[in-house]
Amino acid sequence: MYIDTHCHLHDAKLPDTDAVVSAYLKDGVEAVINMGCCAQTSVRGKELAEKYPSVYFATGCHPSDSAGFDQKEFDIIRSLASHEKCVAVGEIGLDYYWKPFDKEVQYKCFIEQIDFANSVKLPICIHNRDATGDMLKILKDNKHKLCYGGVMHCFSGSVETAAEVLKLGLHISFAGPLTFKNARSLLDVAKFVPEEMCLTETDCPYLAPHPFRGTVNQPKNVTVTTAFLANLKGREVTDFATSLSNNAKKLFYKMK
Ligand code: NI
Repeated sequence: MYIDTHCHLHDAKLPDTDAVVSAYLKDGVEAVINMGCCAQTSVRGKELAEKYPSVYFATGCHPSDSAGFDQKEFDIIRSLASHEKCVAVGEIGLDYYWKPFDKEVQYKCFIEQIDFANSVKLPICIHNRDATGDMLKILKDNKHKLCYGGVMHCFSGSVETAAEVLKLGLHISFAGPLTFKNARSLLDVAKFVPEEMCLTETDCPYLAPHPFRGTVNQPKNVTVTTAFLANLKGREVTDFATSLSNNAKKLFYKMK
């Protein structure tokens, strides 16, 4: 019924993968997509996908890891794309929050992976932190390479930014912060984005939704954020969750 479209099961904060997987299956989460942050975590995602039927994965280099994005790293990331359970390239993007960073290095890493995703016919999972202006510019300049779509993960921008993202044909994914008590402007965004362009995720182990804020997040909590969003949209939770899962399966078309 539910799909966690962005999680990091490979993270050391979630050591007991068997328990984490059992817990989300019990709560009605049918599938999760493990996001790669570098070659090593992308390979780990593949291993998890081979072990657990409900796990899919994305391959890619996170902007905060872009300094290590060399030919060898890219070769490994690229080699995973043809795997039957590799459903996206991600997470890729820009991050001006974690310092120090080099904008040129991040642009190169991001744009090369947009090209790569387009060449292997996969959607992209986009990370954007404190870089909205440059992000929109790069996406607009590369619009012709976004044929397979993508998603702005853990969206935290304004209604205006959401409108720009939708114009590019990209989905918008909501994570735990939607449920936070100080998330006033995000509520307007959530109401604004059409249901068919909405996804939900956990980005676990980070960003646990209210009332679990501050604890180690895990995929089962995607049920909390999805129910919160259903409520905002005035929708019945089960129907809404199924509708969002269908959105995910359409975008991440390699999912079964
Ligand atoms: Ni992430």
